[in-house]
Amino acid sequence: MELPVVFMLLLLCSSAAYAKTSKSPILSPTPAPAPAPEYVNLTALLTVAGPFHTFLNYLESTKVLETFQDQANKTEEGITIFVPTDSAFSSLKKPSLSNLTADQLKSLILFHALPHYYSLSDFKNLSQSSPIPTFAGGQYTLNFTDVSGTVHLSSGWTDTKVSSSVLSTDPVAIYQVNKVLLPEAIFGTDIPPTPAPAPAPETAPAADAPTADGLNGLSSPGSSPGKSSSYRIISWGIWGHFVLAVSAVLVLFL
Ligand SMILES: *[C@@H]1O[C@H](CO)[C@@H](O)[C@H](O)[C@H]1NC(C)=O
Ligand SMILES: *[C@@H]1O[C@H](CO)[C@@H](O)[C@H](O)[C@H]1NC(C)=O
Ligand SMILES: *[C@@H]1O[C@H](CO)[C@@H](O)[C@H](O)[C@H]1NC(C)=O
Ligand SMILES: *[C@@H]1O[C@H](CO)[C@@H](O)[C@H](O)[C@H]1NC(C)=O
Ligand SMILES: *[C@@H]1O[C@H](CO)[C@@H](O)[C@H](O)[C@H]1NC(C)=O
Repeated sequence: MELPVVFMLLLLCSSAAYAKTSKSPILSPTPAPAPAPEYVNLTALLTVAGPFHTFLNYLESTKVLETFQDQANKTEEGITIFVPTDSAFSSLKKPSLSNLTADQLKSLILFHALPHYYSLSDFKNLSQSSPIPTFAGGQYTLNFTDVSGTVHLSSGWTDTKVSSSVLSTDPVAIYQVNKVLLPEAIFGTDIPPTPAPAPAPETAPAADAPTADGLNGLSSPGSSPGKSSSYRIISWGIWGHFVLAVSAVLVLFL
C-alpha cells in the first residue's frame, strides 16, 4: 500500500544520487554523500512501524504531533518518544482515558516524550538523576532504571520497559513500550495496589489460608528470567528501506 510508494521514491532518489556521483571522474573518488535525510517524518514512521495507530491518532487529535515534529526537526536537541503499542491502549482498563479533559489528554500524550535525544545507553546515566522531567513539564516526571542493559520506566502508575527500539538515530529516538504511561500528576498518588493481572487460578480454594499470609507475599508471578531473551532491537524504518534501495541500485549498476 504505502510501502511500495516509499520504496519507489527512495529508489528514484538513490538512483538520481548514483547518476550524479557516477559523473565525477575516476581520479577523484568522492565519498558517497551521507544518505542521512534532513528530517524524520514522525507520521510516516509511526504509520509503518508498530502498530502504533492509537498513539498516532491521539498525537493528531491533541495536536501534539506538531510539537513533537517541531522538536524532532531541532537537530541540536532532538527528541525521545516512548510509543505504546495499540494493544497497550486496548488492554488499559482502568483508569480509563475516556474521562480525561482535553488538557489532561494532551498532557498525557506529552508525558510520553523527553525533549532531548537519548540513545539506550544514555539511560544508564539518566537513571542516576531520576526523576526526569518529560515534555509535559512540571510534575510530569518519569523514573528510569537500567536493568542489565534494558531500560525500565516508572511513572508510579505504570511500570514498564523499552521492548524494542524503532529508531535511534540522533536527533530522533522512538522506543516501543507495552504500556500506556499514566502520570501521577493526572491520576494522583493514590495508586491502587498492584492490579494482579493474572491471579494464578487455584483449582481448589485453599481451606487453611490464614496461616500462609507471610509466604503469600513472596510469590511473584510472571518474573521468569527467560523473558529477557525475547528482548530485541529492531532498527528499521525509513533508513532500512533507504539502505536497501541504495544497495539494490548499486547491484543493478555493477
Ligand atoms: C509526512 O508523512 C505523511 C504520511 O506519509 C505525509 O502525509 C506528510 O505530507 C509528510 N509530511 C511532510 C512534511 O513531508
Ligand atoms: C519539519 O521539517 C520539515 C522539513 O523541513 C518541514 O516540512 C515540516 O513542516 C517541519 N515540521 C514542523 C512541525 O516544524
Ligand atoms: C468516568 O465516567 C463515568 C461516566 O461518566 C463514571 O461512571 C466513572 O466513574 C468515571 N470514572 C472515573 C475514573 O472517574
Ligand atoms: C555519565 O555520568 C558520569 C558520572 O556521573 C559522567 O562522568 C559522564 O560524563 C556522564 N556521561 C554522559 C554521556 O553524560
Ligand atoms: C522516582 O525516583 C525518586 C528519587 O529516587 C523517588 O523519590 C520517587 O519515589 C520515584 N518515583 C517513582 C514513581 O518511582
